[in-house]
Amino acid sequence: MAAACLCIPKVACAGETKLNITAIGASGGKSTLECWQLDAPFAVSETPGTRGSAAANLGNVSNFGISVLPANFDGGLHNAPANQWVMFTSGLAHITVPGDDSDGAYILGGKFGLIFAADTADVSEKGHYTRYPGVVETIALQIPTLDGEIPPHQVVRSGPCQTDEMAGLRAFAGTG
Ligand SMILES: *[C@@H]1O[C@H](CO)[C@@H](O)[C@H](O)[C@H]1NC(C)=O
Ligand SMILES: *[C@@H]1O[C@H](CO)[C@@H](O)[C@H](O)[C@H]1NC(C)=O
Repeated sequence: MAAACLCIPKVACAGETKLNITAIGASGGKSTLECWQLDAPFAVSETPGTRGSAAANLGNVSNFGISVLPANFDGGLHNAPANQWVMFTSGLAHITVPGDDSDGAYILGGKFGLIFAADTADVSEKGHYTRYPGVVETIALQIPTLDGEIPPHQVVRSGPCQTDEMAGLRAFAGTG
């Protein structure tokens, strides 16, 4: 039987919605900012505790760490230590990549705070630069994937995802 579709009045159905996240990729030995649409679709959870709400399985992970970055911390130029999810839960991160004179990506901690970092040293010579320009500390959860796997995705375009490309999350809560 096909997965049930979660339909909340006025908003999208879960089975048709996929997560769009900003990713740090690499091309030609240089880090790139990209907007990815993850292949894993949202479905209606059958798990007690979340049953009936929208959930997506984003794959297996290997490890779990938390970082606390003070306001105005300069993280410097660095490669992703592993292919990993980074979930910013509070604060503000500003990510730029060498050779790209755009404004880079501003990632606000909170519900739209998930990114994927894949510019490891074997694919990017210099990596990316992260600064934390917020007025409060930034909390980041670092979650490398199992065996360094990169989650299946489509590159929507270069540059970070825009807020309206993530707003579908709000729609699931009926607050969009
Ligand atoms: C995650 O690991 C489980 C148990 O090893 C495996 O059955 C499953 O296929 C894995 N899922 C993905 C998305 O790789
Ligand atoms: C991802 O982007 C697509 C196309 O813009 C959009 O339809 C979808 O709602 C977005 N997903 C989320 C979770 O916002």
